[in-house]
Amino acid sequence: MSLLFDEIALAAARLAEAGVESPRAEAELIAAHVHGVRRTELTTVPDSAFDARFWEGIGRRAAREPLQHITGLAYFRYLELEVGPGVFVPRPETEVMTGWAIDRLREMDVAEPVVIDLGTGSGAIALAIAQEVPRARVHAIEGDPIARGWTERNIARCAAAAPYTAGRVTLHADDFTAPPAGLDGLAGHFDLVISNPPYIPVGASVPPEVGEYDPPAALWSGADGLDAIRAVERVARRLLRPGGMVPSSTARRRARPSTGSSPRRPAGATRATTRTWPGVTVSSRRRGPAIGRTDDENGMAPGWGRWTTG
Ligand SMILES: C[S@@+](CC[C@H](N)C(=O)[O-])C[C@H]1O[C@@H](n2cnc3c(N)ncnc32)[C@H](O)[C@@H]1O
Repeated sequence: MSLLFDEIALAAARLAEAGVESPRAEAELIAAHVHGVRRTELTTVPDSAFDARFWEGIGRRAAREPLQHITGLAYFRYLELEVGPGVFVPRPETEVMTGWAIDRLREMDVAEPVVIDLGTGSGAIALAIAQEVPRARVHAIEGDPIARGWTERNIARCAAAAPYTAGRVTLHADDFTAPPAGLDGLAGHFDLVISNPPYIPVGASVPPEVGEYDPPAALWSGADGLDAIRAVERVARRLLRPGGMVPSSTARRRARPSTGSSPRRPAGATRATTRTWPGVTVSSRRRGPAIGRTDDENGMAPGWGRWTTG
């Protein structure tokens, strides 16, 4: 056993005591970050190279600061994003929704699909689409100036790693409940509207990593948690072209978080007319039929239903 692994074992016990969910894994990730190696390379760190800053990182994590704030990085699909104070740390369940959107965009018989990400935060969704669907043009709206600083850094970072994404993501400093005038010309022309909006009811209890570190504008959304998603629905109606699509996280995610990467149908979704899976509702704007009704049994937001397919 090396000195580093002895320290990792002690650190894991401290993190477990502090209520961290995956203490051993997180202790190893902090060790890897501090020593500048991959987690799989920790055995190569000699005792003489042990860096006491490891315990500084462990102290921060034991105080329930998110791991991603300590390492400064979050991984989202194929992206390595910079994150820190003032920006929402992208979540794994959002990768599922984004993957679905990417698959649909790839299938679309459209030369340059136009996409909009409402509330882009770190830019995770918008950049993943730009990286994985190179012909897409992505507009990203973010209202919070501090969050936008992170979006800008990540747009530049992504362009450096994948130059074909340069100029493909346009960031708009605005409120997505009233998209900027600059987008008016595109109303009714978006092929896909996507959003992971704030969704927590005001006053709900959340873990310290969330309540103390994710920005309030990324979390709270009215008494029932659904204010923002109602706005997304309203705005999507205006922006989508007929046949365009809008996957969006819903209240269901609170009740039953997604546990895997493969789309699955929620148990109660027997009447679904379009694909759904835990945490994600997919709506498609069609010419003619009215928007689908709320499906309370599936935990959907009021006013946020599926478009009926006739
Ligand atoms: C839950 S976070 C999601 C961030 C990112 N899309 C992700 O999935 O990691 C929601 C984001 O929407 C932004 N936001 C909330 N309300 C907004 C509004 N009305 N207009 C613009 N941005 C908003 C917040 O600042 C935050 O960055």
